Amino acid sequence: MIFTVAIDGPAAAGKGTISRAVAERFGFRHLDTGLLYRAVGAKGGDPVAAAQALVPDDLVRDDLRSLAAGEAASRVAVIPEVRAALVEFQRRFARMDGGAVLDGRDIGTVICPEAEVKLFVTASPQVRAHRRWREVGGDEADVLAQVIARDARDADRATAPMVAAPDAVLLDTTEMSISAAVERAASAIRSTIEGRA
Ligand code: C5P
Repeated sequence: MIFTVAIDGPAAAGKGTISRAVAERFGFRHLDTGLLYRAVGAKGGDPVAAAQALVPDDLVRDDLRSLAAGEAASRVAVIPEVRAALVEFQRRFARMDGGAVLDGRDIGTVICPEAEVKLFVTASPQVRAHRRWREVGGDEADVLAQVIARDARDADRATAPMVAAPDAVLLDTTEMSISAAVERAASAIRSTIEGRA
């Protein structure tokens, strides 16, 4: 079965947790596409060459989850040639037999506009910064400033900006628990699968 779940939205909104949970529940493969941009940013040197030469081993570095790696990722992610170099791999993953969940910023709009289910997961900057701060520590006000700066860079770039697809289901996790959001996501997927049967 070819079935793509596209999960987009800003940092620390809950996309990763929701994606992993629904992938496990439905037996779909999962790709965290942010890791691709993080790996390109972490390689250093010419980002376009780094994106063109990206190999799976680059995705298992253990420093990719840091705030600095997220910041570096969003800087290389504005470069159209970097994005272009990563498109084919993501598209192939999305349409692989057996079902796929991809989370990122442009999955439902650019990578896989034909995705069977699209979700846009968001939350207020304050709530997202608080969640991120609990993971990484440091000064919470600095974390909030970085969240706001990264949102602006991702939403305002010319190529593949972060935006909800018109047909995406909106999940605002500001006041909704992540487990409630997982249930909403799962029920959207289930009803689409049942509608196709
Ligand atoms: O999701 P994550 O925080 O790991 O993403 C890091 C950065 O990579 C984002 O801030 C964004 O600039 C970029 N990104 C993107 N398109 C995606 C996934 C991530 O531009 N599909």
